[in-house]
Amino acid sequence: MPRRKTYLFESEGNSAWTWWTNEEVGHTQEAKKEIGSLLDEGNIFDTPKPVRLIKRILELASTKDSLILDSFAGSGTTGHAVLAQNKADGGNRRFILVEMEEKICQSITSQRLKKVIEGYNDNPALGGGFRYCVLSEPVFDEHGQICKEVKFMDLARHVFFTETGEPLPRDVNGKKSPLIGVCKGTAYYLLFNGILGDKRPDGGNVLTNKILAELPPHDGPKVIFGEGSRLGADRLKRDGIIFKQIPYEIKVN
Ligand SMILES: C[S@@+](CC[C@H](N)C(=O)[O-])C[C@H]1O[C@@H](n2cnc3c(N)ncnc32)[C@H](O)[C@@H]1O
Repeated sequence: MPRRKTYLFESEGNSAWTWWTNEEVGHTQEAKKEIGSLLDEGNIFDTPKPVRLIKRILELASTKDSLILDSFAGSGTTGHAVLAQNKADGGNRRFILVEMEEKICQSITSQRLKKVIEGYNDNPALGGGFRYCVLSEPVFDEHGQICKEVKFMDLARHVFFTETGEPLPRDVNGKKSPLIGVCKGTAYYLLFNGILGDKRPDGGNVLTNKILAELPPHDGPKVIFGEGSRLGADRLKRDGIIFKQIPYEIKVN
């Protein structure tokens, strides 16, 4: 079989060797020192990774715009390495760190990131930033139905984000108004949990003429989420409304 041969001088970027020495990428003791110099109570992990090791992986396996996920964040070495690599090559990599222990997240992962972003001891600031988010209860059960505990604001956050890619506007408070936000000229409404004041089961969750007349006005296209619609397709079209049924037409991701 003909085979393409690529010489080292022809290849772009770095070529990975199978053997990584501790002179090049560090070792556990180095990692412990790194954390110890940042945080007094940071050394609770037996085998933390040195920043140099993760940086090497980023050099080989990421581009300047990569999004890097570490779903076992621990002491936050991955976030630290991403910021360091961005500083080194002017990259714009972003990261998502997931840590299930709230205490570790609050007192170690996020504290380490803050310090390296701002600079500490003799180490210059790496710059960058991060947002600290706390996961709430699941929105859907295993059958795709909305969980009973889900409140209007929980669903509003989910719907607005999955539809627009944007977080819910800060002024939405889930008190009386089903308008959850406007994005790129389109208004998004959510009829759920009797937001319009009708506390009967399903009250106010179905789009009718009366409910439509009560919605806060918007001069432009509207997307309305509700449990059902009594308005015909022509009427919806005439009023520039896209109706989406809860829960089936709510995007999961
Ligand atoms: C060994 S530590 C990671 C250390 C990290 N690589 C470093 O160098 O700093 C693993 C972490 O993953 C967290 N963890 C374990 N299972 C998890 C899960 N299912 N979701 C999120 N975090 C998890 C643990 O709480 C622990 O802090």
